[in-house]
Amino acid sequence: MTEVIRTSAELRDKVAAWKRSGMLVGVVPTMGALHDGHLSLARAAREQSDRVIVTIFVNPMQFNNADDLAKYPRDEAHDLALLDAEGVDVLFAPGVDEVYPEGFASKVSVAGVSEPLEGAMRPGHFDGVATVVSKLFGMTQAGRAFFGEKDWQQLQVVQRLVEDLNIPVRVMGCPTIREPDGLAMSSRNVRLSPEERAAAPVLYAQMQQAAQAIRDGADAGAALATAKAAILAGGFREVEYLELRSIDGFLQVSDLATPARLLAAAWMGDVRLIDNIAV
Ligand code: PAJ
Repeated sequence: MTEVIRTSAELRDKVAAWKRSGMLVGVVPTMGALHDGHLSLARAAREQSDRVIVTIFVNPMQFNNADDLAKYPRDEAHDLALLDAEGVDVLFAPGVDEVYPEGFASKVSVAGVSEPLEGAMRPGHFDGVATVVSKLFGMTQAGRAFFGEKDWQQLQVVQRLVEDLNIPVRVMGCPTIREPDGLAMSSRNVRLSPEERAAAPVLYAQMQQAAQAIRDGADAGAALATAKAAILAGGFREVEYLELRSIDGFLQVSDLATPARLLAAAWMGDVRLIDNIAV
């Protein structure tokens, strides 16, 4: 049975006992509303660690929109059943007061990689992510942490943070899990109407086409402009960004002289979807 723990004191005792017997502890940080994307991380953790902690904490500090925070789906009982079926050892689900007690005054901020794209569109978001992830690493004392490539920029921010602050955890990036029609799994997908859900796969399909065109030698600017037009024609209301960035340094590039990633954010009605692929 997956054990539910709500305080960092209790978690610390548990993890200390595991570590005394030489076990490698893996952690999967999440905000709950678990789907197969999250569960793939729990499976990777299960395979690559002796004990697995999944954390569920809807982190107020990373939401720059009160409405988005209020609407965030929550169903802990369902999540717990899914984690139990995956053989997860501990669900760490602290309350807001446990993570941010009275007097809490610190903030972790990662410059550079957290500034463009999601950072520019959602001011303060990555400070909130970097702060809570630092705290979760401190609270869980895990040796390995599993993050999805779905949130590519977040993964880069966490890797930078761990290196810069000498946090003794190995960050493992895991592939994006998709629906059969290509739509990247996301807790936000349930907010799409049936028509919007049917149209949403155009984002990934056009990203793949653009990536292939660029690999085939097409001008990147032209390939991305074509893709953007097709995404809008396919039912998206707005494309916030569709950009080619270097894997190393996360700089905007216009060719494949260095390995690159294609990243996008777009609005389908009221729902903001993000995706990214290797080029
Ligand atoms: P959340 O959106 O719940 O995502 C938790 C983890 O699941 C992240 O590492 C994310 O990249 C991964 N994930 C989500 N959808 C995925 C998919 N389709 N395939 C593979 N992995 C996927 O990301 C967060 O929470 C928060 O910012 C958090 C890191 C927990 C800090 O609060």
